[in-house]
This record gives sequence, C-alpha cells and structure tokens, in this order.
Amino acid sequence: MRIRVESKLPEGLDAVVVARFSGSEEVPAGLDQAVTGLLGKVKEIGGAEKFLETENILLTDSTTAKRLVVMGAGKQEDFDVMKARQLAGTAARSLRKKGAQKLGFVFPAGEKGPDYFQAYAEGVVLSTFEPGFYHTGENKDTKVLEDVVFLSASSDATLKDRVERGVVVAEGQNFARTLANEPPNNMYPARLAEEAEKMSKEVGLDFHVLDEKQLEEGGFKAILAVGQGSIHPPRMIVMKYNGAGDAPYIGVVGKGITFDSGGISIKPAESMDQMKFDMSGGAWTIGTMRILAQLKPKINVIGVVAAAENLPSGSAYRPGDVVGSLEGKTIEVLNTDAEGRIVLADGLAYARKLGATRLIDMATLTGAAVVAVGHVATAVFTSDQAWTDKFLQIAREDGERAWQLPLFPEYTEQIRGTTGDLLNTGGRWGGASTAAAFLKEFTGGVPWIHLDIAGTAHPESEKPYIAKGSSGQIIRTLVDFLIDTGENAA
Ligand code: BES
Ligand code: MG
Ligand code: ZN
Repeated sequence: MRIRVESKLPEGLDAVVVARFSGSEEVPAGLDQAVTGLLGKVKEIGGAEKFLETENILLTDSTTAKRLVVMGAGKQEDFDVMKARQLAGTAARSLRKKGAQKLGFVFPAGEKGPDYFQAYAEGVVLSTFEPGFYHTGENKDTKVLEDVVFLSASSDATLKDRVERGVVVAEGQNFARTLANEPPNNMYPARLAEEAEKMSKEVGLDFHVLDEKQLEEGGFKAILAVGQGSIHPPRMIVMKYNGAGDAPYIGVVGKGITFDSGGISIKPAESMDQMKFDMSGGAWTIGTMRILAQLKPKINVIGVVAAAENLPSGSAYRPGDVVGSLEGKTIEVLNTDAEGRIVLADGLAYARKLGATRLIDMATLTGAAVVAVGHVATAVFTSDQAWTDKFLQIAREDGERAWQLPLFPEYTEQIRGTTGDLLNTGGRWGGASTAAAFLKEFTGGVPWIHLDIAGTAHPESEKPYIAKGSSGQIIRTLVDFLIDTGENAA
C-alpha cells in the first residue's frame, strides 16, 4: 500500500472520501467541478450530519473517481486526533471491504493539520489488519488497498513527515497485533523469541534470549515456576535500542504468557480461548522496539519480554508453593492463575540488571482492571507521579484512553506473606491495585509505571476501523512518551 500527500487528486480513484463537519457550508478546495457540484447537492439534502455517517454517490462523469463518499466528521468543535483516526480508518476499512483499491481523502487540516494527518495515516494502516490468518478458500480476505492519497492545499513538508510517522507507528502496532493474534499452538515462548529475533535483525536492534537452561543458571526462579507445567519452556527475550550513546536506559517490560489456562487454579472454560492474548504486553513491547528502531530517536530503550505458558500438569507449580526470584524475594503462591505478576517479577529485576534506570511494564494482568475501567481505558499505576502525569498528558494528546488507579501502601499490606515474603494474590478486593503493589516490590525503587492492558488489548467487540481481536492500543502513546522521556533526560 502506498500512502501519500498530494496537492491534487490523481485520476482513476475508486472513491474519493470527503469529510464534512455538521452544519458546515465550506466546500473543500482542490476538487474537480463534478465533485464540487455533487457536494453542494449533498449539503442541500443534508446528508452525513452525524459523526461517521455516510452519503454514497456514484460519479458517472468524473475522471477523478467512480464514487464520492461524504462522511460526517461531527461537530467541528468536537473534532480531535481520536476522531481523525476513526474517520480515516472507518472509511478505509469499509471501502476496502467493498473492493476499492485506490482512495482519495479530503479531510480537515487547519492548525492541527500535522497531528490530524498522522492520525489519518494511522487509521488507514490500522484498518488493514484482519485476524483471519488461517482462513482458507472463500473465507480468505484478499482485498487490499493499493493507493491512498490525502489531499492537502498546503505544501507544508511536516504533513508528509507526519503521514510517514503515522505509517511507521501503525505498522508497528499491526505487527504487535499479528503476534498477539497467533493461536497458542503456534505462539509459544520459543516462537515469540524467534519472531522478536527476526524483527530485531531486520531493523537493527541488539537481541538476546535466555532459554530454560540459562534461566536456571541465572536464578530466574519465578518465571521458571510459572512455566514448569508446560512442554514449552519459558524464555526471557531482550531487545536493545541504542540511540543516545551512554545515556541511561529506560526498560520496557512485557508480560508474555502465550497461553493462560490458569494452571492448577484452572479458569472456567468460557472465554478461555481469549487467553491466547495474554502475551499482548510482550507483543506490544516487541512492536514498540520495532517502531523505535525505525523512527531512530535519540534515546536508549531496553525491551524485555517474560514469556511462559501457564498450564496444569503433573509438573506444574501449585497453590501453596513458595518460589524464589531473580530479585531474591520469595513468593508464596496462593493462586496459580495470578501468574503474570510472577513472570514480571523476574522481567523487572532483569531489566534493571541490564542497566534500566526507569521502568514501564505492560501486562494483561487482572480481570479487576477490566471491571474498573472496562474495555475503554488502560489502567495506570505508578511510583513516580510527575513522570506519570506526562504519560497521561501524552495519552490525551495522542487520542488514547488511559486512567490512573491508586497504589496506596495499604495494598502492599494485603500481599504480605505468611511463609514466603509476598503473596501472589491480595484477596478479592482491589485486585488491580494489589497486583500493582506486588510488581512494585520488584522495581528496586526506580521510577516505574505499570500499564494494566487487560481491558484494552483485545476488546470483546470490533470497531468500524479495528477488526475483532488484538488492538495494539497504547503503543503509540508509549512510543511518544519514551521519546519525550529520553529527550528530556539528555
Ligand atoms: N491474564 C489474566 C487476567 C485477564 C483477565 C486478562 C481477563 C484479560 C482478561 C491473569 O493472569 C489472571 O488470571 N488474573 C487473575 C488474578 C487473580 C487470580 C488474583 C484475575 O484477574 O482473575
Ligand atoms: Mg492468570
Ligand atoms: Zn494471565
């Protein structure tokens, strides 16, 4: 797919999509006569008044396009980056599904033009992801976009740069979604490591992986305990991006449970299939590293994915077990289904061992986070408020939902162990916060942000521009936040 910005639409498009603010009389510049005339008609009848509502018109005498789609952009004063992304993505996805290959977009620009144009590009690229990897024959979706042109009256070069940036970010997101969408019979820890290695070689990241033998020698007792019930042993996957010489590293740590059955504390059968997505934090980490390698900012980031499969078997870890960790602290297992925090304990400690002086982790960690903020927002916890305020601000600017939940010292009281140092569950109430309190014990007191993506990584329903399944949500905020943090540290 080619995505570009042009000052004139080319001939022979399958469709030209014109966004229209409700109640607006403005006719966009740069359209041919036939199109402008039709737009005038649409306004007369009053179509596409609501956000994402469309009016579809066949163009019989236009050389520009076969059809005109007028799409509601909603009220001008409500328009923002999130809406921009939805607008472009919705149009691109529905037209592609109807067989269109060449599209022209005439979308709002103005003062925030560069931000909007990046969002349009992101929306289009995100809309091309479909989860039917193993569809055969007629089920296979073979429809692809070939050419997407954004019309811009301005010759501002930043528009082009931002469209390119949007493509890189969204492609990184789609890469992460691809990893997460793979079924668990094909996506086990060693396979995730292979994919991360292949990607690292392609984009020029330093890479290494610890296999079960190296994990044993290194004292990674926590992740080994979680993985010991599966024939697929755990892996600790490391990718390093160096863009700022010997400046300190920020560590990004992802939960990579390639399948979470719950283990001996087994989950109910209903929706257990969804637990193939329990490596989303790891997939997001790998996608983030890929984007950084392509954008080449002047920062240093180390990505760590703690990958294991959580299954019940004769060799599985049990409720009641006390297991060690790389950090040295002992963990009293009350519930083998609270496995994410156990693998992350070793992931967080290892990232610090490798030189990270700040930490951000991403994990589909708790059902409690989904209860609290639904499938709408990423739940945020922290040991450093000022740094987190910046994260929340960037999420707002990037049009992604993130909301902070508390991490009071009382939650740490709930996980004080009887036989071991720490319990791996803090009881029924405040489950997202007690999980965060557990992780904090493995951060060595460095600034740390925990993102519980359980609700947002794989929402239950599809959106017009996001196919069912893996979302990639919060990756773009993380990328912008890492760049901001690294640059301001220098
Ligand atoms: N992977 C799950 C959390 C999860 C639940 C993610 C729903 C996405 C959707 C995690 O490993 C888990 O099972 N957590 C338990 C913890 C409990 C046993 C303390 C939970 O949230 O029920
Ligand atoms: Mg679990
Ligand atoms: Zn899990």
